[in-house]
Amino acid sequence: MPVISVPQAFNEDELYVDLRSTFGRSLFLKCEGFNFAGSIKLKAATEMVEAAERDGVLTPGSVLVESSSGNLGVALSMIAASKGYRFLCVTDSRCNLSTRRMMEALGSQVHIIAEPDANGGLLGARINYIRGLCASDDRYVWLNQYTNPGNWQAHYRRTAPAIVRQFPRLDVLFVGAGTTGTLMGCARFLREWHRPVRIIAVDAAGSVTFGGAPGRRMIPGLGMSVRPPMLDESYVDEVVRVEEPDTVRACHRLARRGFLFGGSTGTVVSGAMGWLAQHEARELTAVAIAPDLGERYLDTIYQTNWLEDLYGGDVLSSDELTAGSRASLTRATGAVTGTLVT
Ligand SMILES: Cc1ncc(COP(=O)(O)O)c(C=O)c1O
Repeated sequence: MPVISVPQAFNEDELYVDLRSTFGRSLFLKCEGFNFAGSIKLKAATEMVEAAERDGVLTPGSVLVESSSGNLGVALSMIAASKGYRFLCVTDSRCNLSTRRMMEALGSQVHIIAEPDANGGLLGARINYIRGLCASDDRYVWLNQYTNPGNWQAHYRRTAPAIVRQFPRLDVLFVGAGTTGTLMGCARFLREWHRPVRIIAVDAAGSVTFGGAPGRRMIPGLGMSVRPPMLDESYVDEVVRVEEPDTVRACHRLARRGFLFGGSTGTVVSGAMGWLAQHEARELTAVAIAPDLGERYLDTIYQTNWLEDLYGGDVLSSDELTAGSRASLTRATGAVTGTLVT
């Protein structure tokens, strides 16, 4: 029976969903959403805060500030509340309302950037705002998840070892790429492991992380509008890019089986299933990482009007939601609409 006195002390690290019955192919989905912050970002937040305390950068009276599309903000809000620090989260208009409310409920301040910087990016504008704050008052401590080694070290120390404990014959690991902290931490650990493992990065179409033209991205979590400073592509064997409608379809397909996951999980699962189908990889032991759960996306990915406005009325009108492997699917011709597909 786990008994805790600080919220960051609990994290379920041993739970996997076998997706064979949902997608017709075996893929073990590591669920990272079962902790009090509700996402994988708890690990990065804990590691970065503890390192800043050890280094004497973070002291009583400091004000933590961070740029986050949401989940790191929630994790830092929780840790800041638990440890008695103030925290200001700088996010942008794509941050879900419920995520923002959660941060505020935990006592944090949230600043929303609505105007992109001169290069057209909201992320650049968020960073510029933080730089201005830090220059104006030295009580601000910016952990900077984009460059902080604690971000990837958390996954090197915890996430990847937890996976190989359960899957000693692991062949392929699918990891979504945001800051690339999860990707780099897992990839570095597995490079040193006794058995070769293929590392497949999954990115959102429209992200510039692995090159390519920037494009509209509405689902937070994965993808960047600037190249992530932490990324070392020599650790990545392949990159799979996923269009947002495919992300949405994978999320809804999981939800139809009772598994309500977040947007980036849909991206990773869609990318992984496509890769496994292409590689005829039925014998491989494959794991994918699910960064969070679905409650934070009820007003977006799981809301018919939001989907129709962004992706058109037929985004869910594929038989992909019902049966069969992704590779063998054709578009439905019947008049199925919205989330009423059965
Ligand atoms: C929901 C979700 N998925 C994926 C990621 C990406 O993780 P990383 O920043 O380690 O690449 C994040 C990061 O914020 C996230 O919030």
